[in-house]
Amino acid sequence: MPTNQLATPATADPGRPVEQADLFNSVEDVSRRFAESGYLTDTRLATTIFLQSRLGKPVLLEGPAGVGKTELAKQLAAVTGRELLRLQCYEGQDETTALYEWDYGKQLLYTQVLREKISQVIADTSTLAEAVDRIGAEESVFFSERFLASRPLLAAVRSPEPVVLLIDEVDRADEALEAVLLELLAEYQVSVPEIGTFVATHRPLIVLTSNNTRDLSAALKRRCLHLSLDYPDAERELEIIRSKHTGLPDALAEQLVGIVRGLRELELRKAPSISEAIDWAQTLAVLGADELTADILGQTANVVVKYDRDLRRALDAIPRLVDPNAVVPEHLPHSHGHGHTHTHDHRHTDDHTHAGDPDGTTVRAEKDRPGRHADNYYGAPGRTDAGTTSVSRGQGSRSFGARTGRKRPF
Ligand SMILES: Nc1ncnc2c1ncn2[C@@H]1O[C@H](COP(=O)(O)OP(=O)(O)OP(=O)(O)O)[C@@H](O)[C@H]1O
Ligand SMILES: [Mg+2]
Repeated sequence: MPTNQLATPATADPGRPVEQADLFNSVEDVSRRFAESGYLTDTRLATTIFLQSRLGKPVLLEGPAGVGKTELAKQLAAVTGRELLRLQCYEGQDETTALYEWDYGKQLLYTQVLREKISQVIADTSTLAEAVDRIGAEESVFFSERFLASRPLLAAVRSPEPVVLLIDEVDRADEALEAVLLELLAEYQVSVPEIGTFVATHRPLIVLTSNNTRDLSAALKRRCLHLSLDYPDAERELEIIRSKHTGLPDALAEQLVGIVRGLRELELRKAPSISEAIDWAQTLAVLGADELTADILGQTANVVVKYDRDLRRALDAIPRLVDPNAVVPEHLPHSHGHGHTHTHDHRHTDDHTHAGDPDGTTVRAEKDRPGRHADNYYGAPGRTDAGTTSVSRGQGSRSFGARTGRKRPF
């Protein structure tokens, strides 16, 4: 019987030492060791991890996709030399995949093998009810630790070595599962009615992540150190890209960060994340880009923008993000005949046809016509003739160094 099992339910001892107290010496120690491991923290994040280690509380990270929530837990395991146990949450998930399950197959096998012994146990009974009672009296044999299949939460509590427990995308799980977590998060214990309560001898470092697809309960939040992770500032994002050795020259990476930040300011359904910025840098490096032109960025924008409508918006914005002085033609509002009017330059992929051009021939021909934009479409300043829009210098550079603070839907 493992030392972490108590036969009777137990409550957490508030006086219990937090054994991970010596994991990090200081906030700076957290930053340094994470950086060495390839994860760049800011002060807020490093402070939260430091506090987690000192206070022994779980950390709840909320934020948009691709800002490094899952990666943080992985790096925490790497930095502390602990094993990572991971519970990936999903809709409809129940306790059997999160906490534990009775190993039915093994129970069945044992009853088969022990058939003779079982027959002996009930040999002197005369009625069915008596036989059932006799078997019932032996029930605890089959509902014992031997037949308990631990899932990540119980495994973290039972582990003979301290571990990092990642409960990933907890907002995807139903509220019922959230309730199941509460005992673990507050008391570092899991109750199995048939056996008793398992209390962790080594408190796991617990990291929960959420993409904010729904509000988590106040009870869950109260048990955690809460941190909202957002896109990093430009300097840190550049550092992150540099640290990934993408092969993109530094000056271009810096420019790319500005462009990605500019794209995040657009009303996109899914703003580009850090991981997509890294992918974009890698893509451009693989293509051997030695200059970031609107052309090459436009051709590869699908690496960072994943919805057709977002792509159209990105393609419209890229020229002025590349060059704040870009002069782009004014696209007159037009109707697609489906009840709305908008401006863009027909680079969209959904297959609309136009009144008077039912098969789209004219539209395609227009796209192929050389020089349909002015020669200086991507660059030279000063065009003020009708049909063009001059974009202010600040619009492109604004994206670099300034945090938007705007909350995006995700
Ligand atoms: N601070 C950082 N330092 C280094 N790399 C980072 C950092 N933040 C993000 N990354 C990179 O971004 C990638 C994506 O991060 P991760 O998968 O952790 O995002 P996430 O927030 O969990 O997203 P999702 O909500 O989609 O699961 C990581 O693999 C890592 O390469
Ligand atoms: Mg994740």
